[in-house]
Amino acid sequence: MSVIYLDYNASTPVDSSVREAMLPYLDDYFGNPSSSHAKGKPMRQAVDKAREQVAGLFGASTEEVIFTSGGTEASNHVIKGITCTRREQGRHIITSSIEHPAVINPCKYLEKEGYEVTYVGVDSTGLIDPQAIVDEVRPDTILISIMHANNEVGTIQNIADISEIAREGGILMYTDAAQTCGKIPTNVQELGVDFLSIAGHKLYAPNGIGALYIRKGINIEPLHHGAGHESGRRAGTEPVAMIAGLGRAAELAAGHLDDSSVKELRDRLHKGLVDGLGDQAVLLGHPELRLPNTLAIGFRNCIGGQVLGACPEICASTGAACHSGQAKRSAVLEAMDVSEDVAFGAVRFSLGRHTTEQEIDRAIGMLVSAVQAA
Ligand SMILES: Cc1ncc(COP(=O)(O)O)c(C=O)c1O
Repeated sequence: MSVIYLDYNASTPVDSSVREAMLPYLDDYFGNPSSSHAKGKPMRQAVDKAREQVAGLFGASTEEVIFTSGGTEASNHVIKGITCTRREQGRHIITSSIEHPAVINPCKYLEKEGYEVTYVGVDSTGLIDPQAIVDEVRPDTILISIMHANNEVGTIQNIADISEIAREGGILMYTDAAQTCGKIPTNVQELGVDFLSIAGHKLYAPNGIGALYIRKGINIEPLHHGAGHESGRRAGTEPVAMIAGLGRAAELAAGHLDDSSVKELRDRLHKGLVDGLGDQAVLLGHPELRLPNTLAIGFRNCIGGQVLGACPEICASTGAACHSGQAKRSAVLEAMDVSEDVAFGAVRFSLGRHTTEQEIDRAIGMLVSAVQAA
Protein backbone atom coordinates (compact mmCIF):
# COMPACT_ATOMS: atom_id res chain seq x y z
CA MET A 1 0.00 0.00 0.00
CA SER A 2 1.46 3.35 -0.94
CA VAL A 3 0.57 5.79 1.79
CA ILE A 4 -0.47 9.38 1.08
CA TYR A 5 0.68 11.36 4.10
CA LEU A 6 -1.56 14.38 4.67
CA ASP A 7 -0.98 14.87 8.40
CA TYR A 8 1.95 17.30 8.53
CA ASN A 9 0.23 19.33 11.27
CA ALA A 10 0.52 16.25 13.49
CA SER A 11 4.19 15.53 12.71
CA THR A 12 6.53 16.07 9.80
CA PRO A 13 9.16 13.63 8.56
CA VAL A 14 12.70 14.49 9.63
CA ASP A 15 14.44 16.29 6.78
CA SER A 16 17.53 14.45 5.48
CA SER A 17 19.78 17.45 6.11
CA VAL A 18 18.36 17.73 9.65
CA ARG A 19 19.33 14.11 10.23
CA GLU A 20 22.79 14.81 8.83
CA ALA A 21 23.18 17.78 11.16
CA MET A 22 22.31 15.53 14.10
CA LEU A 23 24.44 12.48 13.31
CA PRO A 24 27.86 13.75 14.45
CA TYR A 25 26.41 14.33 17.94
CA LEU A 26 25.18 10.76 18.14
CA ASP A 27 28.52 9.41 17.02
CA ASP A 28 31.96 11.05 17.29
CA TYR A 29 30.84 13.84 19.55
CA PHE A 30 29.41 12.79 22.87
CA GLY A 31 30.75 15.15 25.53
CA ASN A 32 28.74 17.29 27.88
CA PRO A 33 28.28 20.81 26.48
CA SER A 34 29.00 22.18 29.96
CA SER A 35 32.48 20.55 30.00
CA SER A 36 35.30 22.90 29.07
CA HIS A 37 37.55 20.11 27.72
CA ALA A 38 38.06 18.93 24.15
CA LYS A 39 35.00 16.66 24.16
CA GLY A 40 32.72 19.33 25.58
CA LYS A 41 33.65 22.29 23.42
CA PRO A 42 32.26 21.03 20.09
CA MET A 43 29.00 20.23 21.85
CA ARG A 44 28.73 23.77 23.20
CA GLN A 45 29.56 25.13 19.75
CA ALA A 46 26.74 23.04 18.24
CA VAL A 47 24.24 24.37 20.78
CA ASP A 48 25.40 27.94 20.17
CA LYS A 49 25.07 27.53 16.40
CA ALA A 50 21.57 26.09 16.68
CA ARG A 51 20.53 28.93 18.97
CA GLU A 52 21.66 31.40 16.32
CA GLN A 53 19.69 29.53 13.65
CA VAL A 54 16.49 29.47 15.73
CA ALA A 55 16.90 33.09 16.83
CA GLY A 56 17.31 33.98 13.15
CA LEU A 57 13.93 32.48 12.33
CA PHE A 58 12.32 34.49 15.15
CA GLY A 59 14.17 37.74 14.41
CA ALA A 60 15.37 37.52 18.02
CA SER A 61 18.76 37.65 19.70
CA THR A 62 20.36 34.43 20.86
CA GLU A 63 20.00 35.19 24.58
CA GLU A 64 16.23 35.31 24.04
CA VAL A 65 15.98 31.65 22.95
CA ILE A 66 15.93 28.56 25.16
CA PHE A 67 15.54 24.96 24.06
CA THR A 68 12.71 22.86 25.49
CA SER A 69 11.42 19.33 24.95
CA GLY A 70 8.72 20.69 22.63
CA GLY A 71 5.62 22.86 22.44
CA THR A 72 3.90 21.46 25.53
CA GLU A 73 6.83 22.18 27.82
CA ALA A 74 7.23 25.68 26.41
CA SER A 75 3.55 26.51 27.01
CA ASN A 76 3.72 25.14 30.56
CA HIS A 77 6.89 27.14 31.14
CA VAL A 78 5.25 30.42 30.16
CA ILE A 79 1.83 29.92 31.72
CA LYS A 80 2.98 28.49 35.03
CA GLY A 81 6.25 30.42 35.20
CA ILE A 82 4.66 33.81 34.83
CA THR A 83 2.21 33.19 37.62
CA CYS A 84 5.18 32.84 39.98
CA THR A 85 6.88 36.06 38.97
CA ARG A 86 3.72 38.17 38.53
CA ARG A 87 1.74 36.81 41.46
CA GLU A 88 1.67 40.19 43.17
CA GLN A 89 0.27 41.89 40.07
CA GLY A 90 -2.71 39.65 39.55
CA ARG A 91 -4.26 36.26 39.08
CA HIS A 92 -6.13 36.61 35.80
CA ILE A 93 -5.18 35.10 32.42
CA ILE A 94 -6.89 35.54 29.06
CA THR A 95 -6.72 32.78 26.49
CA SER A 96 -9.06 31.40 23.84
CA SER A 97 -11.45 28.48 23.62
CA ILE A 98 -9.58 26.99 20.62
CA GLU A 99 -6.08 26.67 22.10
CA HIS A 100 -4.19 23.40 22.00
CA PRO A 101 -4.42 21.32 25.22
CA ALA A 102 -0.79 22.39 25.83
CA VAL A 103 -2.25 25.80 26.74
CA ILE A 104 -5.77 24.91 27.88
CA ASN A 105 -4.65 22.34 30.43
CA PRO A 106 -2.00 24.44 32.26
CA CYS A 107 -4.75 27.09 32.46
CA LYS A 108 -7.18 24.54 33.91
CA TYR A 109 -4.51 23.55 36.41
CA LEU A 110 -4.05 27.17 37.46
CA GLU A 111 -7.80 27.57 37.92
CA LYS A 112 -7.58 24.83 40.54
CA GLU A 113 -4.83 26.87 42.18
CA GLY A 114 -7.08 29.91 42.48
CA TYR A 115 -6.30 31.74 39.22
CA GLU A 116 -9.08 33.05 37.01
CA VAL A 117 -8.93 32.27 33.31
CA THR A 118 -11.11 33.82 30.61
CA TYR A 119 -11.52 31.74 27.46
CA VAL A 120 -12.54 34.14 24.69
CA GLY A 121 -14.69 32.71 21.93
CA VAL A 122 -14.21 32.66 18.17
CA ASP A 123 -16.46 33.27 15.18
CA SER A 124 -17.59 30.53 12.80
CA THR A 125 -14.24 30.69 10.94
CA GLY A 126 -12.20 30.27 14.13
CA LEU A 127 -11.13 33.91 14.28
CA ILE A 128 -10.84 35.87 17.52
CA ASP A 129 -12.12 39.44 17.49
CA PRO A 130 -9.40 41.52 19.25
CA GLN A 131 -12.22 43.64 20.74
CA ALA A 132 -13.36 40.52 22.63
CA ILE A 133 -9.96 40.57 24.34
CA VAL A 134 -10.15 44.30 25.09
CA ASP A 135 -13.50 43.61 26.77
CA GLU A 136 -11.94 41.01 29.08
CA VAL A 137 -8.82 42.92 30.17
CA ARG A 138 -8.83 43.65 33.90
CA PRO A 139 -6.39 45.43 36.20
CA ASP A 140 -5.27 42.02 37.49
CA THR A 141 -4.70 40.42 34.05
CA ILE A 142 -1.10 39.21 33.87
CA LEU A 143 -0.97 37.17 30.65
CA ILE A 144 -2.71 36.91 27.29
CA SER A 145 -2.05 33.58 25.58
CA ILE A 146 -3.40 33.27 22.04
CA MET A 147 -2.19 30.71 19.51
CA HIS A 148 -0.76 32.03 16.26
CA ALA A 149 -2.70 29.53 14.14
CA ASN A 150 -5.01 26.71 15.03
CA ASN A 151 -3.83 23.15 14.50
CA GLU A 152 -7.23 21.76 13.47
CA VAL A 153 -8.60 24.34 11.04
CA GLY A 154 -5.53 26.50 10.40
CA THR A 155 -7.12 29.88 11.13
CA ILE A 156 -4.41 32.51 11.71
CA GLN A 157 -5.03 35.05 14.47
CA ASN A 158 -4.20 38.71 14.35
CA ILE A 159 -1.43 38.43 16.92
CA ALA A 160 0.10 41.87 16.26
CA ASP A 161 -3.17 43.61 17.20
CA ILE A 162 -3.67 41.42 20.26
CA SER A 163 -0.08 42.10 21.37
CA GLU A 164 -0.81 45.80 21.10
CA ILE A 165 -3.76 45.39 23.46
CA ALA A 166 -1.51 43.51 25.88
CA ARG A 167 1.20 46.16 25.70
CA GLU A 168 -1.27 48.97 26.35
CA GLY A 169 -2.53 47.12 29.41
CA GLY A 170 0.96 46.31 30.72
CA ILE A 171 0.15 42.61 30.21
CA LEU A 172 2.55 39.97 28.90
CA MET A 173 1.71 38.32 25.58
CA TYR A 174 2.41 34.71 24.59
CA THR A 175 1.72 33.00 21.29
CA ASP A 176 1.92 29.27 20.65
CA ALA A 177 3.48 29.20 17.19
CA ALA A 178 3.85 25.42 16.93
CA GLN A 179 1.74 25.40 13.78
CA THR A 180 3.00 28.55 12.11
CA CYS A 181 6.74 28.30 12.43
CA GLY A 182 8.13 27.47 9.00
CA LYS A 183 4.74 27.96 7.31
CA ILE A 184 4.28 31.71 7.69
CA PRO A 185 6.60 34.38 9.18
CA THR A 186 7.08 34.16 12.94
CA ASN A 187 9.09 37.32 13.54
CA VAL A 188 8.67 38.23 17.19
CA GLN A 189 9.18 41.96 16.56
CA GLU A 190 6.43 42.05 13.94
CA LEU A 191 4.13 39.96 16.14
CA GLY A 192 5.00 42.08 19.16
CA VAL A 193 4.96 39.11 21.53
CA ASP A 194 6.87 38.57 24.77
CA PHE A 195 6.93 34.77 24.42
CA LEU A 196 6.65 32.46 21.41
CA SER A 197 7.03 28.70 21.27
CA ILE A 198 7.74 26.16 18.54
CA ALA A 199 7.77 22.37 18.28
CA GLY A 200 10.48 20.63 16.26
CA HIS A 201 8.29 17.84 14.95
CA LYS A 202 6.08 20.28 13.05
CA LEU A 203 9.19 21.67 11.38
CA TYR A 204 10.98 18.64 9.88
CA ALA A 205 13.02 18.12 13.07
CA PRO A 206 12.41 15.18 15.44
CA ASN A 207 9.84 14.80 18.20
CA GLY A 208 10.94 15.88 21.65
CA ILE A 209 12.67 19.16 20.89
CA GLY A 210 11.33 22.70 20.75
CA ALA A 211 12.24 26.24 21.60
CA LEU A 212 10.86 29.17 23.52
CA TYR A 213 11.47 32.83 22.85
CA ILE A 214 11.51 34.97 26.01
CA ARG A 215 11.79 38.69 25.37
CA LYS A 216 14.95 40.17 26.88
CA GLY A 217 14.42 41.61 30.36
CA ILE A 218 11.44 39.44 31.26
CA ASN A 219 11.82 37.55 34.47
CA ILE A 220 10.08 34.18 34.42
CA GLU A 221 10.36 31.32 36.86
CA PRO A 222 11.84 28.16 35.26
CA LEU A 223 9.71 25.07 34.96
CA HIS A 224 12.68 22.79 35.62
CA HIS A 225 14.79 23.61 38.65
CA GLY A 226 18.29 22.17 38.62
CA ALA A 227 21.72 23.17 37.39
CA GLY A 228 22.35 26.38 35.48
CA HIS A 229 21.77 25.18 31.91
CA GLU A 230 20.25 27.57 29.38
CA SER A 231 21.44 30.53 31.50
CA GLY A 232 19.53 29.14 34.47
CA ARG A 233 16.22 29.12 32.60
CA ARG A 234 15.86 25.42 31.74
CA ALA A 235 17.82 22.94 33.79
CA GLY A 236 18.97 19.65 32.30
CA THR A 237 21.92 18.67 30.12
CA GLU A 238 21.14 19.80 26.60
CA PRO A 239 20.19 17.10 24.05
CA VAL A 240 22.79 18.32 21.59
CA ALA A 241 21.84 16.15 18.60
CA MET A 242 18.19 17.21 18.87
CA ILE A 243 19.18 20.84 19.27
CA ALA A 244 21.49 20.67 16.25
CA GLY A 245 18.60 19.17 14.28
CA LEU A 246 16.21 21.92 15.34
CA GLY A 247 18.78 24.55 14.36
CA ARG A 248 19.13 23.10 10.88
CA ALA A 249 15.33 22.78 10.58
CA ALA A 250 14.93 26.46 11.51
CA GLU A 251 17.46 27.44 8.88
CA LEU A 252 15.64 25.36 6.26
CA ALA A 253 12.25 26.75 7.29
CA ALA A 254 13.37 30.29 6.63
CA GLY A 255 14.13 29.27 3.03
CA HIS A 256 10.66 27.76 2.52
CA LEU A 257 8.52 30.67 3.68
CA ASP A 258 8.02 32.06 0.17
CA ASP A 259 7.29 28.68 -1.38
CA SER A 260 3.71 28.73 -2.68
CA SER A 261 3.67 25.15 -4.00
CA VAL A 262 2.13 23.62 -0.86
CA LYS A 263 -0.71 26.16 -0.94
CA GLU A 264 -1.35 25.39 -4.61
CA LEU A 265 -1.64 21.67 -3.85
CA ARG A 266 -3.86 22.41 -0.86
CA ASP A 267 -6.17 24.45 -3.10
CA ARG A 268 -6.12 21.70 -5.73
CA LEU A 269 -7.33 19.25 -3.08
CA HIS A 270 -10.07 21.64 -2.02
CA LYS A 271 -11.24 22.22 -5.59
CA GLY A 272 -11.21 18.49 -6.36
CA LEU A 273 -13.37 17.72 -3.32
CA VAL A 274 -15.84 20.51 -4.07
CA ASP A 275 -16.01 19.54 -7.76
CA GLY A 276 -16.74 15.95 -6.79
CA LEU A 277 -19.01 16.50 -3.80
CA GLY A 278 -20.50 19.99 -4.14
CA ASP A 279 -21.87 21.39 -0.91
CA GLN A 280 -21.30 18.09 0.85
CA ALA A 281 -17.65 19.26 1.25
CA VAL A 282 -17.78 22.19 3.67
CA LEU A 283 -14.65 24.25 4.29
CA LEU A 284 -13.88 24.67 8.01
CA GLY A 285 -11.72 27.57 9.14
CA HIS A 286 -11.09 30.95 7.61
CA PRO A 287 -11.18 31.08 3.78
CA GLU A 288 -8.13 33.38 3.56
CA LEU A 289 -6.52 33.80 7.00
CA ARG A 290 -5.50 30.17 7.06
CA LEU A 291 -2.27 28.18 7.14
CA PRO A 292 -1.18 27.57 3.53
CA ASN A 293 -0.90 23.81 4.08
CA THR A 294 -4.16 23.17 5.93
CA LEU A 295 -7.55 22.11 4.60
CA ALA A 296 -10.20 21.09 7.11
CA ILE A 297 -13.33 19.77 5.43
CA GLY A 298 -16.58 18.73 7.03
CA PHE A 299 -18.10 15.96 4.90
CA ARG A 300 -21.77 16.68 5.54
CA ASN A 301 -23.81 13.76 6.90
CA CYS A 302 -20.73 11.56 7.18
CA ILE A 303 -18.49 10.46 10.05
CA GLY A 304 -14.90 11.59 9.42
CA GLY A 305 -13.41 8.42 10.92
CA GLN A 306 -15.52 6.28 8.59
CA VAL A 307 -14.50 8.30 5.53
CA LEU A 308 -10.84 7.84 6.42
CA GLY A 309 -11.51 4.20 7.32
CA ALA A 310 -12.66 3.68 3.74
CA CYS A 311 -9.42 5.27 2.46
CA PRO A 312 -6.71 3.39 4.37
CA GLU A 313 -3.97 4.78 2.13
CA ILE A 314 -4.68 8.32 3.32
CA CYS A 315 -3.11 9.51 6.58
CA ALA A 316 -5.11 12.49 7.89
CA SER A 317 -6.85 13.49 11.14
CA THR A 318 -10.50 13.59 12.08
CA GLY A 319 -12.16 16.52 13.83
CA ALA A 320 -14.55 14.42 15.86
CA ALA A 321 -13.88 11.61 18.26
CA CYS A 322 -16.01 8.53 17.82
CA HIS A 323 -16.56 6.31 20.85
CA SER A 324 -18.94 3.37 20.91
CA GLY A 325 -20.54 4.56 17.68
CA GLN A 326 -21.18 8.02 19.16
CA ALA A 327 -19.46 10.97 17.48
CA LYS A 328 -18.43 14.05 19.49
CA ARG A 329 -17.31 17.36 18.00
CA SER A 330 -13.80 18.52 18.87
CA ALA A 331 -13.62 21.47 21.28
CA VAL A 332 -12.42 23.65 18.41
CA LEU A 333 -15.37 22.85 16.13
CA GLU A 334 -17.71 23.26 19.07
CA ALA A 335 -16.27 26.71 19.81
CA MET A 336 -16.75 27.60 16.12
CA ASP A 337 -20.34 26.39 16.46
CA VAL A 338 -20.03 24.06 13.48
CA SER A 339 -23.28 22.12 13.18
CA GLU A 340 -23.10 18.43 14.08
CA ASP A 341 -24.01 17.20 10.58
CA VAL A 342 -20.85 18.91 9.29
CA ALA A 343 -18.57 18.59 12.36
CA PHE A 344 -18.98 14.82 12.69
CA GLY A 345 -17.63 14.48 9.15
CA ALA A 346 -14.62 16.75 9.76
CA VAL A 347 -11.26 15.66 8.37
CA ARG A 348 -8.08 17.74 8.54
CA PHE A 349 -5.72 17.39 5.61
CA SER A 350 -2.36 19.01 6.19
CA LEU A 351 0.18 19.00 3.38
CA GLY A 352 3.93 19.42 3.41
CA ARG A 353 7.14 19.60 1.46
CA HIS A 354 6.90 16.04 0.16
CA THR A 355 3.27 16.13 -0.99
CA THR A 356 2.92 15.62 -4.75
CA GLU A 357 0.25 16.49 -7.32
CA GLN A 358 -0.22 12.78 -8.06
CA GLU A 359 -0.90 12.07 -4.39
CA ILE A 360 -3.46 14.86 -4.23
CA ASP A 361 -5.26 13.61 -7.34
CA ARG A 362 -5.33 10.05 -5.99
CA ALA A 363 -6.59 11.30 -2.63
CA ILE A 364 -9.39 13.26 -4.29
CA GLY A 365 -10.55 10.18 -6.20
CA MET A 366 -10.57 7.99 -3.09
CA LEU A 367 -12.27 10.55 -0.86
CA VAL A 368 -15.00 11.42 -3.35
CA SER A 369 -15.81 7.71 -3.83
CA ALA A 370 -15.77 7.10 -0.06
CA VAL A 371 -18.13 9.99 0.70
CA GLN A 372 -20.48 9.10 -2.16
CA ALA A 373 -20.64 5.52 -0.91
CA ALA A 374 -21.22 6.54 2.73
C1 LIG B 1 -0.74 24.32 18.29
C2 LIG B 1 0.07 23.31 19.04
N1 LIG B 1 0.62 23.64 20.21
C3 LIG B 1 1.35 22.79 20.92
C4 LIG B 1 1.57 21.50 20.48
C5 LIG B 1 2.36 20.54 21.33
O1 LIG B 1 3.67 20.40 20.88
P1 LIG B 1 4.56 19.15 21.36
O2 LIG B 1 3.93 17.94 20.76
O3 LIG B 1 5.92 19.42 20.82
O4 LIG B 1 4.55 19.13 22.84
C6 LIG B 1 1.02 21.10 19.26
C7 LIG B 1 1.19 19.71 18.77
O5 LIG B 1 0.29 19.09 18.27
C8 LIG B 1 0.25 22.03 18.52
O6 LIG B 1 -0.31 21.70 17.34
